[in-house]
Amino acid sequence: MGKVLIVYATRADETKTIAELIAEGVRIAGHEAIIKRINEIKSEDDLNGFDGYAFGSATYHGEMISSMKQFLFIAERAELKDKVGGAFGAYGWSGEAPGRIFETMKNIYGMKMVSDPLMLKASWIEGGTKASQDYGKSIVSLI
Ligand SMILES: Cc1cc2nc3c(=O)[nH]c(=O)nc-3n(C[C@H](O)[C@H](O)[C@H](O)COP(=O)(O)O)c2cc1C
Repeated sequence: MGKVLIVYATRADETKTIAELIAEGVRIAGHEAIIKRINEIKSEDDLNGFDGYAFGSATYHGEMISSMKQFLFIAERAELKDKVGGAFGAYGWSGEAPGRIFETMKNIYGMKMVSDPLMLKASWIEGGTKASQDYGKSIVSLI
């Protein structure tokens, strides 16, 4: 059984809901999912020991939330090379955050990424629940 860590940054909890649905998908596929709000991660030690990772942030003013930027520097020191990864986030119209996180995981950490970041206007929009659960399943399919 694989173990997936899901870390999210949110302001209005929509990205938290997506994180919970991704975790559901991981569990439906028979694997373990641990969810952490971004301020629960204090050092790279908190990131080691997982097989897969999903990092998510909502987009505000064309950017990821600043705590996610700090977190990505912490994650640079963790042992993430060749681990499976995905990125996600809620957005309103431009949705820069998930793509930026995804590219950092791929290009800086050298992770084995799922095909695309998951961007959702809202988890409750038709298809959003399934898309989030499927994203969790696609992460564990690469473990
Ligand atoms: C002040 C403000 C600025 C925002 N800026 C952007 C933006 O630049 N691009 C975008 O796609 N969405 C933007 N949004 C929309 C949020 O990304 C959207 O509401 C999202 O669902 C919030 O996710 P959260 O609940 O996880 O914080 C903005 C929302 C607010 C309130």
